[in-house]
Amino acid sequence: MKNVAVVGAQWGDEGKGKVVDLYSARADLIVRFQGGNNAGHTLVVNGKKTVLHLIPSGVLHPGKICLIANGVVFDPAVFFEEVDSLVAAGAVGPNPHQFIKVSERAHVILPYHCLMDRLREEKASKGAGKIGTTVRGIGPAYEDKVARRGVQVIDLLRPEVLRRKLEHAIEEKNVLLRHYFEGPAIQLEPLYAECLKLGQRLRPFVADVRKLMVEALKAGRPILFEGAQGTLLDVDHGTYPFVTSSNTVSGGALTGTGMGPSAISQVIGITKAYTTRVGTGPFPTEIEVTEKETAELIRKVGVEFGATTGRLRRVGWLDLVALKYAVEVNGLTGLAFMKADVLQNFATIKVCTSYQLDGRTLLDLPSCVEDLERVSPHYEVLPGWGSFDPKKAKNLADLPRTLQDYLQYVEKFLGVPIVLMSTGPGREETIQIKDPFSDSCCCN
Ligand code: IMP
Repeated sequence: MKNVAVVGAQWGDEGKGKVVDLYSARADLIVRFQGGNNAGHTLVVNGKKTVLHLIPSGVLHPGKICLIANGVVFDPAVFFEEVDSLVAAGAVGPNPHQFIKVSERAHVILPYHCLMDRLREEKASKGAGKIGTTVRGIGPAYEDKVARRGVQVIDLLRPEVLRRKLEHAIEEKNVLLRHYFEGPAIQLEPLYAECLKLGQRLRPFVADVRKLMVEALKAGRPILFEGAQGTLLDVDHGTYPFVTSSNTVSGGALTGTGMGPSAISQVIGITKAYTTRVGTGPFPTEIEVTEKETAELIRKVGVEFGATTGRLRRVGWLDLVALKYAVEVNGLTGLAFMKADVLQNFATIKVCTSYQLDGRTLLDLPSCVEDLERVSPHYEVLPGWGSFDPKKAKNLADLPRTLQDYLQYVEKFLGVPIVLMSTGPGREETIQIKDPFSDSCCCN
């Protein structure tokens, strides 16, 4: 039995939620390893839509263990909102602490992180440097973690340690808040009281998640590692500084859980048949200005609006240069190909196969974001695939020949097989070509 990591191969919003939900049927444990409630994973099961921000997308499968590991930045208030709404909707049973566990080591997002995220973005919008964050406090919480002044989940259960850590953090925060951001100061006592209250409620959910995973590994129970955001938003390997603050690539699944490299046998990258990006930053194949009507059509048909913030997603053609980079930095062993149905009835489909910069042809993503901002995409123009009934397509052979050719073109370019093809938002609108949890071929 194998363990599988699922990561976004673009700028996020590729459809990881759907793939994780599907693969959860094959795993015993589903683990979020980085990011926080900046993620928005949309699942459609029996026509019912559920959007998850923090809880692993395996939660709709009864009997599965859902873990939030040390690499996640954890907002307890958001966590309980999500738990309560899942219980109220009857999507999970009345004792969610029995199968949802949160790492003692995860860092806590506190209200001052959200405040600073917002104030920083507001200040930046008056000059340069606006990232277009989700304003969920992600960056400031990771900053505190790395600066060694963060509050961890375990601290919420230890009143004295919590008070000491909050005092220490607030002292500095208040200087920044008052004098740099000209905003309100944080009051210790109400925050402390709120944290203690959340901690008490959290107690039954808190666990040594790493140990649970080690035991599962020893017992040969399959684990699914659920990535959030996408490769090009990785803090080390993405389009820095227009990135999120965590390691979204497959390596993050190891540091974010405390597993060694041999724990993961397959890495599946999720990509759409086109590209989207939310927030600011370079996007070589963007067509918002050059092909405005096409961008609007794709956005409308593909429902390309942020699941977390409701923001419009910027739209562009498939960028194979950036995808090749994602194959390399994640060590992808397979691709899940999403939303080809959105491009139905297009006469032609463009795919970017290289960039032009200052008269040179670039086959690789430049490291320098200023260069990436200046590249112009070189496109191959491929024939469109007419229309097909996504609900009736059960095998690749049911898809139009031109779409099959297109998929082969992408596989050949990237040197990675497409293991799953999604033809619509529902669980049933999927063609599973290879099962990454076993060596067998077809699951449909
Ligand atoms: P942050 O993660 O909120 O700090 O935002 C940093 C950048 O990552 C911004 O450009 C966000 O739009 C982007 N981002 C964060 N989470 C997601 C996501 O789940 N999907 C797509 N973009 C995201």
